[in-house]
Amino acid sequence: MEKLIDKLSAAVSAAFAAAGYDPACGKVTVSNRPDLCEFQCNGAMPAAKSAHKAPILIANDVVAQLGGCEFFASAEAVAPGFINLRVAPGALAAHLEDMRLSDRPGVAGTHTPRTVVLDYGGPNVAKPLHIGHLRSAIIGESIKRIYRYFGDTVIGDIHLGDWGLQMGLIIAELRERRPDLPYFDDDFAGDYPAEAPFTISELEEIYPTASAKSKVDEAFAKKAHEATYFLQNHKRGYYALWEHIMRVSVADLKRNYENLNVSFDVWKGESDAEPYIPPMLEKLEAQGALVESEGAKVIPVAAEGDKKEIPPCILVKSDGATLYATTDLATIVQRMEDYHPDKLLYLTDKRQSLHFEQVFRAARKTGIVPEATELQHIGFGTMNGKDGKPFKTRSGGVMRLETLIADITSYVEQKILENQTLSPAEAAETAKVIAVAALKYGDLSNLATKDYIFDLERFSAFEGNTGPYLLYTIVRIKSILHRWGGDWQALSLRPADSDSAKQLQLALADMPDQLGMAYRDSAPNAVCAYAYALAGAVNKFYHETHILTEEDREKQSGYIALIAFAKRALETCIDLLGFSAPERM
Ligand code: ARG
Repeated sequence: MEKLIDKLSAAVSAAFAAAGYDPACGKVTVSNRPDLCEFQCNGAMPAAKSAHKAPILIANDVVAQLGGCEFFASAEAVAPGFINLRVAPGALAAHLEDMRLSDRPGVAGTHTPRTVVLDYGGPNVAKPLHIGHLRSAIIGESIKRIYRYFGDTVIGDIHLGDWGLQMGLIIAELRERRPDLPYFDDDFAGDYPAEAPFTISELEEIYPTASAKSKVDEAFAKKAHEATYFLQNHKRGYYALWEHIMRVSVADLKRNYENLNVSFDVWKGESDAEPYIPPMLEKLEAQGALVESEGAKVIPVAAEGDKKEIPPCILVKSDGATLYATTDLATIVQRMEDYHPDKLLYLTDKRQSLHFEQVFRAARKTGIVPEATELQHIGFGTMNGKDGKPFKTRSGGVMRLETLIADITSYVEQKILENQTLSPAEAAETAKVIAVAALKYGDLSNLATKDYIFDLERFSAFEGNTGPYLLYTIVRIKSILHRWGGDWQALSLRPADSDSAKQLQLALADMPDQLGMAYRDSAPNAVCAYAYALAGAVNKFYHETHILTEEDREKQSGYIALIAFAKRALETCIDLLGFSAPERM
């Protein structure tokens, strides 16, 4: 369907044409003086140049043409040549009614559906999920949902870090602790046990211990590197251990992401890139794309006009080892083969920007990715503590995601219990839902590239620009609809009969523009800003309107239809942000 603002522009353009001026000057924008008008057109100023006439005279002519136009309640020419517009309540209600009946009211215009591979999450197996990976998961999940809402096919791939030195460290450490295990017996030819020789908590202790040890114990570090090498060459016992590590960790990761309302379509990792590496290197070699540099094999990617030096993309080190860039390039080969995507989008910390710049350039230069496929890396900022430094636990350690969520949940639960609106059991369940909203909105409402400060009290507040405030607004509407008790699905919107009703209707009509911007810019923060403005309009309308005590049935059904539509719009927004609303709070 068409956007309201486009309909208004078309009407004003027609008026420009009818008055003998260039219709291209009829573009309408949302007013930047809401006290004076709802929309405005500034086209009389540019039209004045070619018509050799004062802008105010042109504005007068256009306004005269708009006289009988169904879209406008008023059109006014103001010095030096602005055209101030107010929408006719009937036309606005009719437009919203069309929106209400469509299955995706936030989408207007046509979008060519794309196939997008979205690489997000990116946790490293066997290392506890910490808040460094939080942002990637939260932002990625939201972008995935926004793209899908606009019709794209999105393949969300977690791209596990599952093939690196951390695996060798764990294997080497296990070997020291339990040399008797069959995995370390080179003569063992039987079937390895089906049960892993460790639990997730043991695993999470083994990795940091081994990592710390490798920094002070050179002999151990060497063993870990050897173990990594043997694993990567599929030494039978090591590979079996690796499979155990994967199973135990992935089950734990899934549980953690589920708590965050984050899900992936594909659980591939760096290890899955491995079979693609030798043929890729061979091809690049044959192509002459690989260059020897101090014993390493690299793809030079510096280009003329670079403002900073872009070092070559190293694919094979002098000792024969492959690197992060090698797996990423090979993963691109796999993704191009499997999905033929229109776009590859990566979400990591902005410290990886140079890495992706190198990999993308290498992918283009070698023809692995054709021009038609877009490559994008969104490098996000850091979540800081109130001291402005990366968020840590009270004792200064790396905060685990689970702990963080548990902290927010118990804080919110306490607040709900103080309000005494819910039973303790319902409070506990509701607190989980609100905590996810608080955390995600606190993150997503910022421009992704910016650092932000994690502030438990502010993020969890029920008032202000927060996730819980949006939930509170939705719950408020649910409660009115419930008390009203009728079937509101079938009710039609009616022309606004008050300023607050009109403002709410205008806010709803703005949805396709705002969500369209979020889609175009891959910017969940635009969804947040829109949802916050919409919630404000809902609450103003609620405070100024006697919805449940209104005696005029027709009027009342219009109010109910309006808040029901607002609820749907708000629920769409929070779904795009990756959280949901409780029944009560
Ligand atoms: N595992 C990586 C890390 O923790 C992130 C992976 C991002 N995705 C990618 N294709 N490189 O830094």
